[in-house]
Amino acid sequence: MPVDEDSSTKPKNHCVKIRQMEIDDLPVVFHLGERLFSAEKVPNLYRTWDQYEVVELFNADSEFCMVAEVNDKITGFALGTTVTKSRSAWKYGYLVWLGVEPSLQREGVAQRLFNRFKDLMLKTGVRMLLVDTEAENLPALHFFRKQGFCNPQQHIYLSMNLAALQQSLKRKQNGESHEQRIRKSHG
Ligand SMILES: CC(C)(COP(=O)(O)OP(=O)(O)OC[C@H]1O[C@@H](n2cnc3c(N)ncnc32)[C@H](O)[C@@H]1OP(=O)(O)O)[C@@H](O)C(=O)NCCC(=O)NCCS
Repeated sequence: MPVDEDSSTKPKNHCVKIRQMEIDDLPVVFHLGERLFSAEKVPNLYRTWDQYEVVELFNADSEFCMVAEVNDKITGFALGTTVTKSRSAWKYGYLVWLGVEPSLQREGVAQRLFNRFKDLMLKTGVRMLLVDTEAENLPALHFFRKQGFCNPQQHIYLSMNLAALQQSLKRKQNGESHEQRIRKSHG
């Protein structure tokens, strides 16, 4: 486990420790994310946050997954990865998920997580950092702007509900197999 260089205090005297995420942290991080990425507040993030997402990122890049602790309790996380393209010398760092326990927001927890993440990315040779979030997620946008992220590009999410189509497909399949059974039973 890396040395905890980021221990420090903020106005409410919380001692925040940043450390690399460990396998036992997976459920806590997942459940904290479930509370943060709610369907009402951030529908797109809600759709993509699940246990597989956390496990996959942890499996692929555990060194870029970290947690913040206050009084030995996990109060925040930053999960990231790096991206390289075959014809580019550039290495990108992607901060995929960042979250802080609601009761401890605006205490500098995400700031410390991000500082650690950025340091790691620099050491890994990353030349550009990427983040994304929903256009209405003002706390995150304020936070990322404060860190120096700029040049936001619009990305529009569209959705298509396939539920009705699924239903008619199922009905069709059931109907057909029923018909096939009848035909078979009549020779
Ligand atoms: C975005 C988020 C991670 C910020 O965490 P945080 O620990 O509260 O952030 P910090 O206290 O380190 O904030 C650092 C700076 O960012 C800015 N900032 C953070 N939250 C802000 C808010 N709600 N409104 C305005 N500015 C904000 C401020 O400039 C702040 O510095 P200050 O408090 O000295 O003014 C947190 O709001 C969160 O978990 N949101 C839900 C999950 C999410 O949307 N994650 C991002 C997409 S994956």
